[in-house]
Amino acid sequence: MVRAPTYPWQPGILTPATEFGPEPLSVLEGRIPAPLQGTFYRNGPGRLTRGHQRVGHWFDGDGAILAVHFREGVATGLLRYVQTAGYQAEEQAGRYLFANYGMTAPGSLWERIFGKNVKNCANTSILPLADRLLALWEGGAPHQLDRQSLQTWGLDLLGSLTPTTPYSAHPKRDPVTGEIYNFGVSLGWNGTLHLYRSAADGRIQKRSGVSLQGFPLIHDFVLAGPYLVFFIPPVRLNMLPLVLNQKSYSEALEWRPDLGTQILIIDRENFQVVRRAEAPAWFQWHFANGCVADERCIRVQFVRYSDFATNEYLREISTGNPITKAPSHLWEVELDVATGQLRQERPLTNRNCEFPVVPDAVAGRPWRYTYCSMKRSGADIVTEIDSVIGCYDQQTETWQEFDCGVGYYCMEPVYAPTEVEDYLINLIFNSHEQQSELWIFPAAHFTDGPCCRLKLPYIVPFGFHGKWARA
Ligand SMILES: [Fe+2]
Repeated sequence: MVRAPTYPWQPGILTPATEFGPEPLSVLEGRIPAPLQGTFYRNGPGRLTRGHQRVGHWFDGDGAILAVHFREGVATGLLRYVQTAGYQAEEQAGRYLFANYGMTAPGSLWERIFGKNVKNCANTSILPLADRLLALWEGGAPHQLDRQSLQTWGLDLLGSLTPTTPYSAHPKRDPVTGEIYNFGVSLGWNGTLHLYRSAADGRIQKRSGVSLQGFPLIHDFVLAGPYLVFFIPPVRLNMLPLVLNQKSYSEALEWRPDLGTQILIIDRENFQVVRRAEAPAWFQWHFANGCVADERCIRVQFVRYSDFATNEYLREISTGNPITKAPSHLWEVELDVATGQLRQERPLTNRNCEFPVVPDAVAGRPWRYTYCSMKRSGADIVTEIDSVIGCYDQQTETWQEFDCGVGYYCMEPVYAPTEVEDYLINLIFNSHEQQSELWIFPAAHFTDGPCCRLKLPYIVPFGFHGKWARA
């Protein structure tokens, strides 16, 4: 007997992804906007169980990529698991074999220290390049896939990496030059922040390393004019229980509020650290954007947590039964260019939100609108997931929102610019019909609701990040 879900959103996260397509998607409502010519890509943990085993954390699921190609008013969808070496070995074995963010696994001390027994999940984000698609993780090199068929071609070392060189899932692309900036944090008794600059084709042209105190967890950063800005939260890896195989990586991360949040401002041309400063303790996974607001001030928006309880909440999500409260709010800070110190900080909402997004065209530059996913006003922030698309307008300092409706759930909105009009695209889980849908909104008036709803042939479990790529 199949048990009814405790919460209506559970199948939208727990259902294993089914590979399908390419096949035309049926239109449930409205029309596909003619200007949309390109592809919507999305990555996330496709499966959270294998046989009777369950992953240790939501971050452990094997990457599954959804692509929806829009051509001449027709949407063609397909989904494929990224064929990583670890995924293929575990498929063959019918069980989990490798360590991961929330999982331990056998291996010699040497293998554990250097991550040789760890699976690259390729499950966090994607980066479309002109001739290929990168499936990004953060503990190793990206995988490269065919943009049309999603066939996995193998690891992509970008001309400079090794398979286990960390390369984060949050690269930033300069909207004018096309240069790609990224980072990675490597293991050791003290960590190293690796910095990368690639040409528009992905090939790394410049690398450098910055020594860190201990081994912090850094998930994202921002471009801000001529700077790369990092907020290093007070989370540190306790190496001993990790190498002794007593704890998983996630379990070995410790919240150390006494260390405060370290601010690093780096010259993006020469990768020199130009400012270091300290701020009160907080945690963030994601930034919205950054810019030089005037010659004395760097402005940064991000989603701020008061502590690291979010990590436990995200572990619990993979069981379908979260119990930990982890409030998250969009914040804005202003940094003094001369010192790096905080000049101002303020929450932009008291509503819980995540996945802040701005148009790629304003990355690192002054911008107006920040989109995100939010919880419904008054919702229980532990047992309800996001069901509202929000937008903060810096010019008017106001919010606009669209509530997807009771029983409909959303995650990160993806911004899709066209020559004619810009759109927001969001993967929706419709718990009434037990199906996944793709909703397309005109960005300028998204509060009016979607202009088109497409039906996906199977439930596509929620994951993390997506991108739009023009044809
Ligand atoms: Fe992320």
